[in-house]
Order: sequence, then C-alpha cells, then structure tokens
Amino acid sequence: MQITSFEQYQEVYQQSVNEPEQFWGSIAENFVWKKKWDNVLSWNFTEPNIKWFEGAKLNITENCLDRHLLTDGDKPAIIWEPNSPEDDSVTLTYKMLHEQVCRFANVLKRNGAQKGDRICIYMPMVPELAIAVLACARIGAVHSVVFGGFSAKSIADRINDAACKLVITADGAYRGNKQIPLKDVIDDALIGCSTVEKCIVLTHVRTPVSMLKGRDVWWEDEVKHVNNVCEAEEMDAEDLLFILYTSGSTGKPKGVVHTCGGYMVYAGYTFSNVFNYQPGEVYFCTADIGWITGHSYIVYGPLSQGATSLIFEGIPTFPTPSRFWDIVEKHKVNTLYTAPTAIRSLMGFGDEPLVGKDLSSIRVLGSVGEPINEEAWHWFDEKIGHQKAPIVDTWWQTETGGIMISPIATVTPTKPSFATLPLPGIQPILVDENGNEIEGNGVNGNLCIKFPWPGMLRTTYGDHERCKLTYFSTYENLYFTGDGCLRDEDGYYRITGRVDDVLNVSGHRIGTAEVENAINMHAGVVESAVVGYPHDVKGQGIYAFVIFPAMHGDVELTKKDILQTVTRVIGAIAKPDKVLFVSGLPKTRSGKIMRRILRKIAEGDISNLGDISTLLDPNVVQEIIERASEKK
Ligand code: WTA
Repeated sequence: MQITSFEQYQEVYQQSVNEPEQFWGSIAENFVWKKKWDNVLSWNFTEPNIKWFEGAKLNITENCLDRHLLTDGDKPAIIWEPNSPEDDSVTLTYKMLHEQVCRFANVLKRNGAQKGDRICIYMPMVPELAIAVLACARIGAVHSVVFGGFSAKSIADRINDAACKLVITADGAYRGNKQIPLKDVIDDALIGCSTVEKCIVLTHVRTPVSMLKGRDVWWEDEVKHVNNVCEAEEMDAEDLLFILYTSGSTGKPKGVVHTCGGYMVYAGYTFSNVFNYQPGEVYFCTADIGWITGHSYIVYGPLSQGATSLIFEGIPTFPTPSRFWDIVEKHKVNTLYTAPTAIRSLMGFGDEPLVGKDLSSIRVLGSVGEPINEEAWHWFDEKIGHQKAPIVDTWWQTETGGIMISPIATVTPTKPSFATLPLPGIQPILVDENGNEIEGNGVNGNLCIKFPWPGMLRTTYGDHERCKLTYFSTYENLYFTGDGCLRDEDGYYRITGRVDDVLNVSGHRIGTAEVENAINMHAGVVESAVVGYPHDVKGQGIYAFVIFPAMHGDVELTKKDILQTVTRVIGAIAKPDKVLFVSGLPKTRSGKIMRRILRKIAEGDISNLGDISTLLDPNVVQEIIERASEKK
C-alpha cells in the first residue's frame, strides 16, 4: 500500500482517478473486515448521500489492536510523555493497550453504554484518553471528544447537541505550570445537560473534586469490577464512529460525522503513505486528541498500521523551549508532526534550546493546521531536519477525515509553503466566485473537491441540511473546502487561507460569529465585529471592534471583563488579542457589517479601503481608524 517513487505516485494517482472503486477496493483489502463490502461506493453530492464499502462489517479497534497482537503484541503502541520531564513516561504495548481498551469497554457497558449511544470525552492528553476513545469504538458507541481548553458552556452545547448519555473526564489536566480543573468545568457544564446519566472520572492531577452520588464514578474503581475480555461490536461500514465539533461561519459549531469503514481505510492509508512510516519507528504527533489531527494521526491512523505513537501532555515551552527536542532525543523520534504555530514560537527562542540536542533520529517532518510561512519552513528544514528530512506540509480538515493534499515523504519533491499535490483518490479543483472551473497552472481560486473519498464527512450531526448548505450548495456538485488556493506553474497547490468567516488562530478554527456572540453576552456590549489579522506566531490574531456605550471608568478593566466573558463562553483559545472600543461599525444600508474594511484597519493597511460611499454612515470609518492608531 506504500508508494515508494514519484513515478509510482503518478501511476497510482491516475489509476485512482480513472478507476476509483477498484483503487479503494484494493486499498481496503489491507484491513480486517468481519464481512467484505457489496459495493465500494455510491454517492451524490446534491443531497449529499455518500456511502463507502456498503454492506461491509468491521470494528475499527480490531484493526488498531487485535490484528497486531500475534506479531507485534509486545511492540509499543503508545508512549506517553508527561507534562513534567521529572515524571516518568509510560509505554503501552499493543497487548497492554488491547487489554486496557477491552477492560474500559466493559466499564462503559457496566455504566449503561450501548452501541449507538453518544459519549462525550473531556480529558487531558494521557494514554487513558486514547483508551477511552478506542473503548467507545469497541462497543460501537459514538465518541465526541471535546478539547480540554473549551469552556463549560461549549461542552454543554456539544453534549446537548449530540444528546450524550455518558461523560468521561479527569480530575484535571496539566498545561505547563498550570492545572486545568477539568472536573469542575464538567460539573458546571452538566448542570444544563439532562441526557447525561453517568460521568466517569480519571484521577490524574490528584486535586480534590466533588463527586455527585449516582452520577459520578471513579475510573480506577470501575475497572476493578470488570474483566478484560470484550468482543468487538460488529459495525456496519456506514455506522457512526465519531462526532467532532468544529467552527463554521455561523455562531454554532457543527458536529462533523465520520463513519467506521471509510474513515478507517482513509486514515490508515494516508498515515502509512504520507509519513512513509517504517516498522519499528517512533512517530510523534504533537497535536491534542481533542482535534481531528489527534483522532486520525495519533489514534486511528498510526494504530491501524501497527505504529508506535508518542503522545505528549504539555506545551512546547515548558519547562523550557527545549521540551520537544528533549523528547525527540529521549525516545529517538523518527517522525515529528506539528503545527506552524509551534514551529514559529520555538523559532523565536533562537538556536540556544537546540544546543547539544541529538535530533539525528529524525527522518520525516510534518506540518498541519495552517499555512506554514517560508521562514518557518526553512527553519524547520535546517535546524530540525538538518536538510535531510522531507517536510510534509499536510493540508486537510476536520471534514475530510484525513490528509488530502500533501507531499508523500521521500517520494514527492517538496517546495516551501506548498502542500504540493493531491494524494491518490483526491480530485481537487479551483473555481471562481461563480463556480466556474479555473483551469491551467499559475492560477488562484476557491478550493473544491469533485469526487468523494472514503474519509469525507457524511453529515453534520442532527442537521443534514446544514451539511448540505455549508459544503455542497455553494458550488453545484462540488465539496467546498472554504479555503483559497494557488496552483503554481508546476501544478503544485499552496493553500492561502480561509475565504469564509472562519479564523485560524494557532491552527485552531474559530468562527468570527462565535466570538462575536460571546462578546455580546457581556452586559455592557451593544454590538461587536470580529476579524482576523496577521500574527507573527499564531498565524492569525483576533481583533474585536466593540460598541460599549456606557463605558465609565477603567477601559483596561472593561477589556479584561470582555476577555473573561469570551473565556467563559467559548474557552481561552478564542480570546481576542486586541479589543478596540468604537461608537459604531461600518455597515451597509441593509445593515450588513463591512468586514472587509475592518480587516484592512486591523491589518494596519488603510491605504486602500475601497468604496465606502455605500456605507450607512461613512464617518464611523474615520473614527475607527483614529482610535485604532491611538491604540498603537
Ligand atoms: C487550514 C486541521 C494551510 C485550512 C487538520 C483548513 C491548512 C483548516 C493546512 C482546517 C495546511 C489545515 N496549509 N492551511 N497544511 N492544514 N489548514 O478542521 O484553512 O482544524 O480549512 O483541520 O485549517 O482546520 P481543521
């Protein structure tokens, strides 16, 4: 299944386009099925209705665990590196992981979980998070992992949207020198969640928490009551595997739905190829399992290929900015997959943190989540890869389930800041505003995909219409990514960023409308508008223009209050970097906020604001410009 030369890539790609069903059918043969499919693919993009491997039966955990037991049972499946280097790392072999997943799957059953039930997971980056995820999959329950940085309200919204029956959490999480009180946050969230019957709590930071009688149980107690034998539930290829919430242009995050068969094939195939994973290698993805990168390339992709997946609780700069390099040296990491934000932030510390670190084990480097600028690309290449490790700049999305456009390590010639070429089976197309295809090279357009792939989303949970509207209605018969893209003279793709109202802050997707809704919850705020602006480390920063008429007293204090409100409503990741109080917002006569103008002001580029004569009150623009420049 691994492609080993560029010529082979070109052949395989052609075949995958000419005969997609044969192509994916033969890839799927590399996985374990309880029953093979009747039909590889049936689809239309109008409803949309997409089915891969119809009629097939499987359980993804048999592919991630059981099938490796005989040959690789004693091989490390997961290596966990804790927040503090003074604490010990933990290694779970495939045998151990299998046993723990089965045991915890029985705990889930014991607490009333059944096939099809939704289970919310809000946990630190510990091996038990992977165990919880796999245990859900083992019994056919649908996991909805919520990143540990989200607020109680965000969690409650997600739990209610999916009507989750169970919650799995921990007492707390470590994040550098901070502790996050996960259970307290869950307690707040659950006040508004009537569907939740049980909450399973892992002891991790050993902080006191309150346990509600009848609802809350300890992980450590529960596992004592069950054995470690748990048959894998037989799942239909199109049964739900998980829901993962992501931001869009409206205020409400949507639950992206992935199903068992296609997702498994796609995550496994892309992992094996993009990273050119070789048996015995240590693969380190620095993402959190709470994001899609963690789902596909910490858990399911690597484990389905029998890889050793290193997971890390903590941050790149704690206790020192050498943390990643120490981990690489300690565990002889062969592949490092991280985000441009982390690279830029570490780059900012200069060469000192790298002195004396042995990075010679590194063979492949990867980047994900946001465009990587050339400077960061070169730094990564020179300082970390010593110009010997190919960098795979992987473009994809929560909705795509796996990597779509990316170099294949050791195969595709790379180019700084370019995601390069589509993987086999992926048919990208650039279109103009009207949906007309932009052909040829050296062109820019909106990135769409014209043919289904096994890892694509099937729906948005509980609201199929929204899935259709968001992804399949902008352009007829195309999946619209929301990204702008350049195809250069060589036919290489470079993703230029979102073309909708979604920000990408430190590689995290945040909807401007969501942040505005949060700011507007502050009692003094009448209205707000949020835009992104270029940020040296985060890629994009959040700039909020806020109307707050009754401002008495301390402006800084009011700003703090507003930031606090956003933290409470969404989470600290959505906190604006800049808040500017204004008396009005630039609006058209029909009341629409002209974000284009605000974006220009936020970028500090007021030379060309375009036509502002159509504004309801053109004077507000001058006022905002003045206030913005005072602020600097
Ligand atoms: C952006 C993360 C440029 C893009 C896997 C996309 C990228 C959004 C890249 C999805 C890349 C992701 N180069 N931009 N290599 N990878 N993006 O759903 O805007 O968290 O639409 O999935 O991140 O973010 P998501």
